Amino acid sequence: MQRIWATETPQRVGERVTVAGFVHSRRDHGKLVFIDLRDRSGILQIVFRAGQTEGADPEELRGEWIIAVEGEVRARPESLVNPHIETGGVELLGAHLTVLSRAETPPFDISDENAMRNVDEELRLRYRYLDLRRPSVRERLRMRHETVAFIRRFLTERGFWEIETPILSKSTPEGARDYVVPSRLQPGSFYALPQSPQQYKQLLMVAGVERYFQIARCFRDEDTRGDRQPEFTQLDIEMAFVEQEDILRLTEELFTALIREQFPDKHILHSPWPRLDHEDVMKRYGSDRPDLREHPEDPNELAFAWILNFPLFEAEPEDAPDSVSVAGLPPGKRYAPSHHMFTAPRPEDVVKLEENPSAVRSLQHDVVLNGYEVGGGSIRIHDSELQKKIFHLIGFTPEQEDQFAHFLTAFRYGVPPHGGIAPGLDRLLMILLGQPNLREVIAFPKTGDGRDLMMDAPAPVEEAQLKELGIRIQPKPTG
Ligand code: AMO
Repeated sequence: MQRIWATETPQRVGERVTVAGFVHSRRDHGKLVFIDLRDRSGILQIVFRAGQTEGADPEELRGEWIIAVEGEVRARPESLVNPHIETGGVELLGAHLTVLSRAETPPFDISDENAMRNVDEELRLRYRYLDLRRPSVRERLRMRHETVAFIRRFLTERGFWEIETPILSKSTPEGARDYVVPSRLQPGSFYALPQSPQQYKQLLMVAGVERYFQIARCFRDEDTRGDRQPEFTQLDIEMAFVEQEDILRLTEELFTALIREQFPDKHILHSPWPRLDHEDVMKRYGSDRPDLREHPEDPNELAFAWILNFPLFEAEPEDAPDSVSVAGLPPGKRYAPSHHMFTAPRPEDVVKLEENPSAVRSLQHDVVLNGYEVGGGSIRIHDSELQKKIFHLIGFTPEQEDQFAHFLTAFRYGVPPHGGIAPGLDRLLMILLGQPNLREVIAFPKTGDGRDLMMDAPAPVEEAQLKELGIRIQPKPTG
């Protein structure tokens, strides 16, 4: 007999069905054993009558054992209906029980949400596969899936192509530290994991793709915080033949439609989103990601805003926030780009590049939401002479400039005007799902110090592997 989901049982009253899942809880009432069975869809009450069950003995069942039960779906008497769960109007009268897998007692009680609040997060992360069994945590995985599915549909309908770009890539002097991967075939050479697909997506515009997106994994070796992970996901977007206005409109339409469909309890405070001038925002709030909610205690209020007219170069690059990602400071720099080195200056400010670069404003656009920067992007430079001038102002040495030779070469073959944006998917979901940190919306997140406690990574590798790569580990200095 084909297995059905717990939440399908209300439509099958009077039928004999098979369900399968985990023993969420068990209550023994002498002649009756009640099991709450948990599968991906939800929870279903099963009743076993003593002596009337074939197969395994229901009295032996323990929490988290995995079972399959065949039986008849019955409507519960009015007085026993549980309005709090989807299957609360029915129960399964167990006729045949199969134990598919026994389980040790888990290190925390998966069925007790209240008790889980006091469980050490490190323990949850070490046993993440058990933590993910909790309906509340699993629900976040589902919402993440629905969000990504919505985004793919929305952009596909508007002519965007999803294109994968390499993870094994090249280190460029861009800002945050790279994660590097040694090459076996080219000993002494290293790949770098992308801090973002920035160069690839621009080269796709050179290639004539016109509308690109990617649910893109990015890697940045920087100090982790609640709203930062060493590897995270961007909704990376790039478009050719557009102006800044087109990018702002698309982003706003996408998020508005997404929230209306997937997060109907939320309401967007200001629509269209306010567009704020960077200088004004800094003066007024002392931050470029102000929290513009009117009722910050209201979990359903969403205050989006655009921050525009950023300076092209940053005054204090040392404490640059996320924007340092693909920007950054090669040694001997003069001006650090406040977003990244491919961002275009405002056309009317280009003349100031010569005598007063600090006064040049850019075509960068950041989206802020409830006090977080949830996305950033810009119109790009599409003129190789201007791009070279920016490299020069940043203070690139000829060798550093050489690292971008492919980029400047590509620009010699014609570049459509283009621009894009990259909302941080984890950060957006953290806010929409009302979570205190990114770890709660990522299936297998890393700790603050960049460890995966479940896999126990990072970890040393075999001596033979190092040898093959031509790498020798220097012992840590003692003392
Ligand atoms: P930027 O560096 O501003 O732009 O990043 C875009 C968005 O990515 C998210 N983000 C992060 N999320 C989690 N953990 C992190 N460590 C982290 N770092 C950044 C933020 C941020 O707004 N290539 C450009 C985009 C472009 O120009 O199109 C870029 O990466 O939500």
